[in-house]
Amino acid sequence: MLKKGKALWLLAAAVCLALVLAACSGDTAGDVEETDGDTSEEAGTNTGEAAGEGNLDVGIVLPTRDEPRWVQDEQRFKDALADSQYTTEILFSQGSSANELQNVETLISKGIDVLIISPHDGDAAGAAAAAAAAEGITVISYDRLITNSDAVDYYVTFDSVAVGAAQGQYLIDNVEGTGVPLYLYAGAASDNNAFLFFEGAWSVLQPKIADGTFVIANSSEAEALADQAELSRDEMGRVLGQITTNWDPNEAINKAQTHLTAASDDLKGDVAILAPNDGTARSIADTFATDSDITSYVVTGQDAEMASIQYIIDGKQSMTVFKDVRRLVEDAMGMAIALLDGNTPETTGAYDNGAKEVQAMQSEVIVVDQDNVKAELIDSSYYEASDFTGLE
Ligand code: GAL
Repeated sequence: MLKKGKALWLLAAAVCLALVLAACSGDTAGDVEETDGDTSEEAGTNTGEAAGEGNLDVGIVLPTRDEPRWVQDEQRFKDALADSQYTTEILFSQGSSANELQNVETLISKGIDVLIISPHDGDAAGAAAAAAAAEGITVISYDRLITNSDAVDYYVTFDSVAVGAAQGQYLIDNVEGTGVPLYLYAGAASDNNAFLFFEGAWSVLQPKIADGTFVIANSSEAEALADQAELSRDEMGRVLGQITTNWDPNEAINKAQTHLTAASDDLKGDVAILAPNDGTARSIADTFATDSDITSYVVTGQDAEMASIQYIIDGKQSMTVFKDVRRLVEDAMGMAIALLDGNTPETTGAYDNGAKEVQAMQSEVIVVDQDNVKAELIDSSYYEASDFTGLE
């Protein structure tokens, strides 16, 4: 029998060897344990048969799985890539820029050539973009723009200013008289889109505030700017600071309750509500519906989430701005495949992200209310009629 000392050394050597073997295979998808960056096998969605270490073609990073909007995008990517020869993986950042960077590092270690990323925080995502660019990976910003970074190459999005303008115009077209109380809400200030949505809404609402059609009910900063047609980023930032929902339905409820509690009687009755997206619109609408001094409300939305389409059918939400995610996925993957094939992707314009002009592809948006739910969402096969009740 071997002397204990020697036996121990051999044991230690055996353990080390096992560890080295494990370490070499550690960065394949199967082996990664669950982290709150959601990078585990069942969370990371692989497409294409050979998704494994070192030969992943495209990495896709989405902000959070906690919002129906981004789960919709995951599904639409899966649908679009089902028979693709290209290998991809979809990871979620769960509302954290630290997770986002970790996700990108994971995808870099899997050998991606193209990164498609919708940033949690536009500025903070510059770090993840720079990490990818340093490895010669092409970075495509998806729906939301990565800001103040020269490490982003392309941008695919919808016309976000048109989203806000459509929401504002819907309120104008659906109220009567003058002095209509206007409750303003917005998205997260860390999201460049929140500024574009508000810019669009303000561009059509401001003249109607200035002529007395609307009275701002919940923002002293917006009231102070009521006579100003165009707002600077800082001025918009001050307003967003008062009316942001941070894209969080619960924060939207808290803000709406606070605003209704503070509102005097002349700011109740028939009111107009600018809600930035569907998730927050349902929360705000439900809160206003519980206030007996509110006799009616017109409320906007965005994203055509299934739950909000049912609210629209039931008359509990007035409209949404439909952004056909199938189109955005098609544009993003079209760019990625062009790049993988060594070609220059087609673009239709550019966005100044504060550091450079980012070449972009932008898609149109569609207003949906009770009158055209069927035409825009069922006839286009975005949803099935059976997904809803009460659809005429
Ligand atoms: C925006 C996006 C919207 C909305 C929101 C919340 O950037 O364009 O569709 O859903 O984020 O995540």
